[in-house]
Amino acid sequence: MTKKLIKGLGKAVGVDVRRYNRETDTFKSLHRKYHDYTMIPEDAFVCNLQLCTKFFTVPGDVVECGVWRGGMIAAIAELSGNTRRVHLFDSFEGLPEAKEIDGKEALQWQANKTSPHYYNNCYADESFALNALKLAAHTNFQIYKGWFQNTLSTYQGNPIAILRLDGDWYDSVKVCLEKLYPLVSEGGLIIIDDYYTWDGCSKAIHDYLSEIKSASRVFQWNNQVGYIIKKS
Ligand SMILES: C[S@@+](CC[C@H](N)C(=O)[O-])C[C@H]1O[C@@H](n2cnc3c(N)ncnc32)[C@H](O)[C@@H]1O
Repeated sequence: MTKKLIKGLGKAVGVDVRRYNRETDTFKSLHRKYHDYTMIPEDAFVCNLQLCTKFFTVPGDVVECGVWRGGMIAAIAELSGNTRRVHLFDSFEGLPEAKEIDGKEALQWQANKTSPHYYNNCYADESFALNALKLAAHTNFQIYKGWFQNTLSTYQGNPIAILRLDGDWYDSVKVCLEKLYPLVSEGGLIIIDDYYTWDGCSKAIHDYLSEIKSASRVFQWNNQVGYIIKKS
């Protein structure tokens, strides 16, 4: 397809193709920058950044639950600027044990300790996240080290503009929703990293939305990322 035709198509659907390409290049270069600090593949990483930038107009803080080495949240922090406070929740001890509710694939994944996707059960020392934030030159942050069940109630931030859920399992995702979803501003973004990966995650989302009788839809961005826009 010629460049002219792509430009024409972009115009027809109301997309500024040159701006889109420029942004995508920036987001890809951020993935290269934080490559050693995230397990999120480039496509999904770019989608996360595309989505987040659309919600930078919502006032409030950014929260990630499930940080690992901090690469994804550092890139979001870098783009959002140092005036926006970011909050990082993680055990920094790896994942808890998967349960039956998390599905057969999750149990198998955790049992297969030699797989290249095992990442030592997602264990990462807190120092990696600190380094990633240093790379982002972001100083406006708070780290909450420990199990979500114990740390989420100590959240000391503003209303939340962007909540990124990346805790994989049912119990982890559910407790994050219970404690933090009510703090998300109307029109705020909730990214659900594992919605299409792990059964426990999708069940937690459906159970929670049903418990609060929410009519919120789960959307999909570019065939990659599940997300919700908060509405009461
Ligand atoms: C898939 S990794 C996160 C990936 C990361 N966002 C990235 O950019 O690559 C999942 C993380 O969730 C954390 N986690 C899961 N359940 C947790 C819980 N209940 N309490 C604290 N941390 C938890 C694990 O320690 C792990 O670092």
